[in-house]
Amino acid sequence: MERRKFVCEMLLTLMTLFHILLTCVDSASASGLGRRNLLANGLGRTPPMGWNSWNHFSCQIDEKMIRETADALVSTGLSKLGYTYVNIDDCWAELIRDDKGNLVAKNSTFPSGIKALADYVHSKGLKIGIYSDAGYFTCSKKMPGSLNHEFQDAKTFASWGIDYLKYDNCNNDGSKPTSRYPIMTRALMKAGRPIFFSLCEWGDMHPALWGAKVGNSWRTTGDINDSWESMITRADMNEVYADLARPGGWNDPDMLEVGNGGMTKDEYIVHFSLWAISKAPLLLGCDIRNMTKETKEIITNEEVIAVNQDPLGIQAKKVRMEGDIEIWAGPLSGYRVAVVLLNRSPFRNSITANWDDIDIPTKTVVEARDLWEHKTLKRKFVDKLTATIDSHACKMYVLKPIA
Ligand code: GLA
Repeated sequence: MERRKFVCEMLLTLMTLFHILLTCVDSASASGLGRRNLLANGLGRTPPMGWNSWNHFSCQIDEKMIRETADALVSTGLSKLGYTYVNIDDCWAELIRDDKGNLVAKNSTFPSGIKALADYVHSKGLKIGIYSDAGYFTCSKKMPGSLNHEFQDAKTFASWGIDYLKYDNCNNDGSKPTSRYPIMTRALMKAGRPIFFSLCEWGDMHPALWGAKVGNSWRTTGDINDSWESMITRADMNEVYADLARPGGWNDPDMLEVGNGGMTKDEYIVHFSLWAISKAPLLLGCDIRNMTKETKEIITNEEVIAVNQDPLGIQAKKVRMEGDIEIWAGPLSGYRVAVVLLNRSPFRNSITANWDDIDIPTKTVVEARDLWEHKTLKRKFVDKLTATIDSHACKMYVLKPIA
């Protein structure tokens, strides 16, 4: 009898201990995301700008093309405007790691290795980005992912001089991104080099809610393609999270398609304007070695870029929607306001921005700068501004209160 009582008591104690242990583990993992900021790399005070290989080249990449792209960023003047990241996407590595488990650059396409490429990119005053995946293989399945190799891979990237990591979510073990991504965050923090961390889990687990503790930007959508419909729906999905963007952590509606040929000039202007006002990363996705005058004109608009890079870092929102007519607005430094009047309809339309909607006190007299015409409008505006906008087109202004 005594013995049975003893065994029962022992069992109870063990169960209580087990319960306490479980509670601890639970709250520890929750506090990992809930309280502690795992990422303190100081990067991305304004949205990152640069170029990425995926939208135009997909898996057809090699070191010669990447080097030429770096050259083109400098020779076209794009780097001076802030486009400094040269980001290599999927397909840069061999499918098999070396005998020590290290990632190795694909010999047939990157024979000089990534370190040599990084040195070249750095010698041009630019930064270099690379791509991996929080799974066993990347999305192309042509190279390994970093799952269970996070610390080793982060060290490899740092040793090569990598400045930016895009981290995809394909072919994983079924666990949540909220447990897999922070491992790479810790690994990058230990790697001994500040590396911009771009989370690419396509918005599945609402990364805007937890991303700022884990990364410097987070995709809010699935992949963009080079069409009006795809572009405008990415902008919509991304807008929902506007309140959660801030310096050091940005909503990412995916990379730019400007210059890839699937949209009209006006549509690309809408694309660039919405990305800029949404404080989205401005990562070019065309072949900048061979871009047209029109493409260059769009992506080099310094006034639009300045809206994106404004130090306040506040993402604009849709402040009014009437069918296919929308007004997007957000504050800029110096009490200015950035506004996009957007016509999504197949017809030309007159659109009015009311001060009421865009957070300017009524009766305020405002000077309007048209960022695509590069003109400060002669007349001043009180209480509202109206413009006629073509189908699938927009106007973008910076409004400045005077007196
Ligand atoms: C995913 C990402 C894309 C690109 C590809 C590469 O689809 O969302 O941006 O990186 O993988 O395979």
